[in-house]
Amino acid sequence: MAQQEDVFKKIVSHCKEYGFVFPSSDIYDGLGAVYDYGQNGVELKNNIKQYWWQSMVLLHQNIVGIDAAIFMHPTTWKASGHVDAFNDPLIDNRDSKKRYRADVLIEDQIAKYDEKIQKEIDKAAKRFGEAFDEAQFRATNARVIEHQQKRDALHARFAKAMNDNDLDELRQIILDEEIVCPISGTRNWTEVRQFNLMFKTEVGSTAEGASTIYLRPETAQGIFVNYLNVQKTGRMKLPFGIAQIGKAFRNEIVARQFIFRMREFEQMEMQFFVKPGTELEWFQKWKQTRMAWHQALGFGAENYRFHDHDKLAHYANAATDIEFHMPFGFKEVEGIHSRTNFDLSQHAKYSGKKIEYFDPETNESYTPFVIETSIGVDRMFLSVMCHSFEEEQLPGGDVRTVLHLPAALAPVKLAVFPLTKKDGLPEKAQEIINDLRFHFNCKYEEKDQIGKRYRRMDAIGTPYCVTVDPQTLEDNTVTLRDRDTMEQRRVNIADLRGIIEDEVSITSLLKKLL
Ligand code: GAP
Repeated sequence: MAQQEDVFKKIVSHCKEYGFVFPSSDIYDGLGAVYDYGQNGVELKNNIKQYWWQSMVLLHQNIVGIDAAIFMHPTTWKASGHVDAFNDPLIDNRDSKKRYRADVLIEDQIAKYDEKIQKEIDKAAKRFGEAFDEAQFRATNARVIEHQQKRDALHARFAKAMNDNDLDELRQIILDEEIVCPISGTRNWTEVRQFNLMFKTEVGSTAEGASTIYLRPETAQGIFVNYLNVQKTGRMKLPFGIAQIGKAFRNEIVARQFIFRMREFEQMEMQFFVKPGTELEWFQKWKQTRMAWHQALGFGAENYRFHDHDKLAHYANAATDIEFHMPFGFKEVEGIHSRTNFDLSQHAKYSGKKIEYFDPETNESYTPFVIETSIGVDRMFLSVMCHSFEEEQLPGGDVRTVLHLPAALAPVKLAVFPLTKKDGLPEKAQEIINDLRFHFNCKYEEKDQIGKRYRRMDAIGTPYCVTVDPQTLEDNTVTLRDRDTMEQRRVNIADLRGIIEDEVSITSLLKKLL
């Protein structure tokens, strides 16, 4: 565990050192849970967004995109339930004066039982070697059974308290489990209170005329309020989807783990409108489609899992998360929800407009049901970074830091180096870039010796490097170096585009989805 924490710290510093992610307003020592993307980060982020957008809008004839405003009419958030219920249960420790999410304290406690069980299993696996049968060990080992029973009982009690919105019971669980504040080490806890996560601001120039509006806490509502506009102007027939990428804001109290939980973040959401009664079938389809999208990146199926929700929001009839194996455990990257007709019905009620679909096949009007897929760009970025980062031991004792980014997501696709800064080599290298820059992102570098230049490119995940040397001027060939194998081969300049373009294009990923 400690080793994993170390790796995570290294990833965070790597992100800063190589221009991926900076703390916001860095010169003023940063702003909590807000981050800026640097010169390489923005390219990687844009590639993730393109991969998602194209998989939705290009690959589905019945999905279109929109870009709604961040500010919305305040009634939107009354109708959606966010004004009344978008809350976190908070608890303070009186000694350290630190504030925590009560549900997170309890979830961490559940994770501690899981860790204890895993420790027993790892120990036994080591002891028994090949002959170890994990299922049998779980079913028979007294210590594991005891931990498992405690864990399950706690989980059931916690799920019930959350479902019943029972704040006193949440506090009682914290006391009964003897959970202490990590700062003060004491159990001197306040009551649990609800805290709304939406940021408020005012619109209007005069004090009397001003009214309170919110920064949107999810992009989804921008889609719901545009359902009629898009359905009518696009003559959309059910089932159809509306996709959107945009910023969302939440006043997160427990902001932890770098860009995993931020106060300003970006979402990629798609609402898929279906005929009532078909929603669970579509829910299953979208679960598979979204999992395939993740797995096409080649990070290994074992690093993903579905986590079906025990606690369903009152308007949902099915919900699952896609979790990814981060250095700090399996964590939610995407949510897939069957939201019934709740949002459209609420907006119909609050706006007084009829928000329905006329079905030409059955000659009836109804409110469509909705399947939502919702993924955080920043969490996706973090999962890509965590999986790609490696400190590789090389023969001879050297270590190189390399990002094994999927080539289609890498910020720079090809780096071109003149071996030296003279004899026409820089000009030749520039010529190659001038030709290829229309097809993919190329970078020219002439500073330092070649080995150092390769390492800098490894560190930002550039899949290919080309070196121009005196032989190039004679026969128009260059050495092409592969980031992962570090192998070099001599190729003709005229063949470079053919070798590289397919490999680094988003299309190469999209083709895996069909
Ligand atoms: N419209 C549904 C919705 O917003 P959610 O589970 O609250 O559902 C969806 O959020 C996704 O947005 C999450 O799976 C996560 O990837 C991302 N997300 C949510 N809160 C976030 C935060 N504070 N920082 C970064 N990403 C966040």
